[in-house]
Amino acid sequence: MRLLSIECFDTPDEAVRWCRDVRSQGLSLGFVPTMGALHEGHQTLVRQAAAQNDRVCVSIFVNPLQFGESRDLETYPRDFDGDAKLLEAAGCHMAFTGTLAEFFPGRLQADGGLQPEFMLDPGPFAESLEGEYRPGHFEGVATIVGRFFEILKPTRAYFGQKDYQQALVVDDLARRTGGPEVVVCPTHREPTGIAFSSRNTRLSESGYAAGLFLSRALFAARGLWLQGERDAQALSSVMRGVLAQGDLTVEYASVRDPRKWSGSEPKGAMERAVALIAARSGEVRLIDNMLLSDPEPCQD
Ligand code: PAF
Repeated sequence: MRLLSIECFDTPDEAVRWCRDVRSQGLSLGFVPTMGALHEGHQTLVRQAAAQNDRVCVSIFVNPLQFGESRDLETYPRDFDGDAKLLEAAGCHMAFTGTLAEFFPGRLQADGGLQPEFMLDPGPFAESLEGEYRPGHFEGVATIVGRFFEILKPTRAYFGQKDYQQALVVDDLARRTGGPEVVVCPTHREPTGIAFSSRNTRLSESGYAAGLFLSRALFAARGLWLQGERDAQALSSVMRGVLAQGDLTVEYASVRDPRKWSGSEPKGAMERAVALIAARSGEVRLIDNMLLSDPEPCQD
């Protein structure tokens, strides 16, 4: 058996000590928060963190605070050993996990949940779309990410553009709380166009085929934008047309101005646009998005 060269810790306390040691040596620290079940998309984040920082640490924690549906939490894929190998290959120095009680000592209620006064406000970017379809989700994300920032004090933190609204929420949180610089990395796609996601492993063959319609719809909107269409309703209607060809339950297919987040689609001609989709393929909920106004950044 080959021993891994990265440090793996089972408790946040050990991780906190390791990070303190890194900072005391005057080294920069890149942090990639994850829920495990890692794939190439996460590896891209770790590679980017390794390129920009002296040390890189990764959290692997399936955060119960951000799951509304207990079935989604229960079925979320978990593979710590596989994850550690992928992290090592991508240039990570330390990976850690922990329990909710260890991340929030003395702050849990009798039923094992976090006392409500310790939940963080996710701010204005949590409004609509994911915020509407997953009530409480961004409170849960902001609370754990805020806690990571507080205890690890990283120089930079890395998030994927695939979770577009999440990236807006955590960037705003970091600015409000004096947290790290938030770096958002482009979505990594399979050759079929589907965005890498830990949930893809739960798709059946036909479910995967249906999932392909998300990126097809986004590329269709992008094509229309490139032809000069600037109306949000026209752009989202072309997406809905493509999504209707797949066996999907669409939650939203919508367009926003990436610099001016709004609860509903902007009216009139847009200068900048991001298209966002959430749809269920069977039991699996998929999300994806694409900037229409800027070139889709290249993958490494
Ligand atoms: O994007 C995720 O995997 C999670 O929302 C995060 C940022 C690790 C917080 O639990």
